[in-house]
Amino acid sequence: MNTNKISIKTSNKNYSIVIGRDLIVKIDKILKANRLKFDKCLIVTDKNIPHKFKRLLYKKLKANKLVKIEIAASEKNKNYRTIEKIHKVLFENRFNREDCVISFGGGIIGDIVGFASSTFKRGMKFVNIPTTLLAQVDSSIGGKTGVNNKFGKNLIGSFYQPDLVVSDMNILASLPEREIICGYAEILKSSIIDNFNNFLYLDKNLEKILKLKSPFIERSIIKSCNLKKRVVEKDEKEKNYRKVLNLGHTFAHAYESTLGFSKKLNHGEAVILGIKNAVEFSFKRKILTKQKFNIILNHINRIRMKPKIEKLFKKRHVSKIMNYMRSDKKNNSNDINLILVKDFGKIIIDFQIDPSNLKKYLSSSLN
Ligand SMILES: NC(=O)c1ccc[n+]([C@@H]2O[C@H](COP(=O)([O-])OP(=O)(O)OC[C@H]3O[C@@H](n4cnc5c(N)ncnc54)[C@H](O)[C@@H]3O)[C@@H](O)[C@H]2O)c1
Repeated sequence: MNTNKISIKTSNKNYSIVIGRDLIVKIDKILKANRLKFDKCLIVTDKNIPHKFKRLLYKKLKANKLVKIEIAASEKNKNYRTIEKIHKVLFENRFNREDCVISFGGGIIGDIVGFASSTFKRGMKFVNIPTTLLAQVDSSIGGKTGVNNKFGKNLIGSFYQPDLVVSDMNILASLPEREIICGYAEILKSSIIDNFNNFLYLDKNLEKILKLKSPFIERSIIKSCNLKKRVVEKDEKEKNYRKVLNLGHTFAHAYESTLGFSKKLNHGEAVILGIKNAVEFSFKRKILTKQKFNIILNHINRIRMKPKIEKLFKKRHVSKIMNYMRSDKKNNSNDINLILVKDFGKIIIDFQIDPSNLKKYLSSSLN
């Protein structure tokens, strides 16, 4: 497969997403081709990435000073303490704005490192090398960075575009099946937002994509990245249109928060459940036709997810889920803002619902 390059233009920064295989081994050349020079470089990695890729990256990076930190990727570590830890290392090693920080990990490391780089001396160079499917198709693109706090997920953060994203597909081979499904959640979301043809491609090739088979996985990643590019270029700061990308996420974040970001349910799995809720709710409200609802539902039912919603959540969880949905960033009033589906490629971003109606829906869908 050839290397693909997607260029993103935003008001603050233009940058590229380089997608292909065997890219880590060429990282020095890729940085140079993208005019990224720096004296010092901090690499923040995830503990679970195979050592051979880490060694390769360290070997190939040209900097006068290379500093490394390893973090255990968990929602519990996605907090201020980790940001302070990164800043401390940057200060101790006398980094400045012209130096670079590289995130080498999944969405958790990327969100943390992006936020740390955006706030260090009001912004330094930031390169994202995503190592999970979810990060390659979604979180590494578009500049949303942030951490969690006790009030909920990603509530502290910034919009800070990376200077470069390098997605090497070889690195996905070590991902557990559960993590591949997580990334797939965002691929599925993108196809519903984009158009029916993209969804049909996934429906036809689901099993091959989940096994990371070529060229199905490449095509799926590139389609998702292109969709994200188009959305981000239209509305970088999520004033309006970018909200489409939150399809399924209002439910998902509430589920994750209710379980205290437990490993029982990870982000992508929560997103799949959230998409299911969003389309079911759209159908119940007569916004989505029964036929389209069934097509999406059948597809979701083919994804073999470990967590079963009926085992994770009971009726007694409804109030907690509702509280988290109320504190969602997208709400402007007492009503809850939901992202609903009218059709493939037709997403409603501002469906205001009275919390009591949502409570009824959640109570009826849980045991
Ligand atoms: N910024 C955005 O636009 C955006 C979009 C979507 C999601 N997110 C955020 O992304 C996070 C989820 O990202 P994620 O699913 O990548 O989770 P993650 O970063 O926790 O990675 C998932 C798991 O895979 C492991 N891992 C990472 N790379 C690996 C590799 N190559 N081989 C083996 N194991 C590997 C990690 O250690 C972790 O256990 C959430 O916090 C979510 O809020 C952000």
